[in-house]
Amino acid sequence: MTSARRTIDQIDVTDRTVLVRVDFNVPLKDGAITDDTRIRAAIPTIQSILDRGGKVVLMSHLGRPAGTGFEAAFSLAPAAARLAEHLGRPVGFPSHDCIDDAAKAAVAAMNAGDVVLLENLRFHKAEKKGDATFAAALASGIDIYCNDAFGTAHRADASMVAVAEAMGDRPRVAGRLLEKELQYLGTAIESAERPFVAILGGAKVSDKLKTIRRLAGTVDSLIVGGAMAFTLLKARGHTVGKSLVEADMVEEAGRMIEEVAAAGTDLVLPSDFVCATGIEAGLPTSVHGEDLPGDVMGLDIGPASSARFAEVVRAARTVVWNGPMGLFEVPPYDAGTRAVAAALVQATEAGATTIIGGGDTAAAIQGFGLGTKVSHVSTGGGASLTMLEGGPMPALDVLDRA
Ligand code: 3PG
Ligand code: MG
Repeated sequence: MTSARRTIDQIDVTDRTVLVRVDFNVPLKDGAITDDTRIRAAIPTIQSILDRGGKVVLMSHLGRPAGTGFEAAFSLAPAAARLAEHLGRPVGFPSHDCIDDAAKAAVAAMNAGDVVLLENLRFHKAEKKGDATFAAALASGIDIYCNDAFGTAHRADASMVAVAEAMGDRPRVAGRLLEKELQYLGTAIESAERPFVAILGGAKVSDKLKTIRRLAGTVDSLIVGGAMAFTLLKARGHTVGKSLVEADMVEEAGRMIEEVAAAGTDLVLPSDFVCATGIEAGLPTSVHGEDLPGDVMGLDIGPASSARFAEVVRAARTVVWNGPMGLFEVPPYDAGTRAVAAALVQATEAGATTIIGGGDTAAAIQGFGLGTKVSHVSTGGGASLTMLEGGPMPALDVLDRA
């Protein structure tokens, strides 16, 4: 599924209008962007087109608006301003509607070296529906379609699939970010050097079932932390106190533990936890072994687990990590996630390939200031998980083969 796609660098863009699907779905607080990683990540593709005399039309979604027209809270205007700052050149933002006459006219009037960002695609319901008429409107007047929206690659939205289809025999290529993400989350994992270690965390085992089943037999060790570990420990007959457990998943978790063992993968579960009586910051904490007393909940892996996980990670040649080890947003429950992050940095320094899925795990490692010290931090949370579980990625299938 990760066979090579034709890329933007392989085609002549001189004087051509390139429609680039980016993922500018960035977090906003009171109208201000709090993390512009996804905008910065799209710049290599944009710059490559501009340097070669092309015209760049960008399209993206932001959040989940109703799909009934413009909503100020979901406008991409802050993204246009931030991109202009990074590029050091103006970014046109012509209209409240990505396909109205003003937007069409702005695209038609572009010169080589111009950049235009269209307004939020999801102001039209047609985007989520994959509507062909909407897609044809976006594709009209466009010479080349380029997909660089890895964060959205698990979606079959119109801009991801139907627009590429509407291009007919005009080129549809992968951007540099998409190419890089596929190289790490596809190729590097498919042909992983051993020992190959996966670390999964986060709250729910149900979100990661498919991933666990796919990784069983593929990885040498599967480390599980985060609240999802409690469902597995409960299946093994341990008491988990007030910890988060998916009661309806315990049986399934038990079967999965057997499958992982039968596949020859070493399942590494936490052996101790940092606990408190509630999740509020500032409560007294205590460390317990894998059987927790009834009045506490586990909020992070404990020191013995951190040390064991770090040891397994440091011995690896390939590491993929998706999901934090505890409630890392609330210190001191960040310690386990920090310890794993530090071990990944050490493994990277020793020559291992280390890959971080997006979402919370990416936010955590960036927050620790370690994002540049691992091989790759993905810009896609849901998309990287879908890659790991081998799920369908229709947006990749419609791109031209290399
Ligand atoms: C994301 O952040 O998960 C992507 O931008 C896709 O957004 P969505 O989950 O709303 O489809
Ligand atoms: Mg999402």
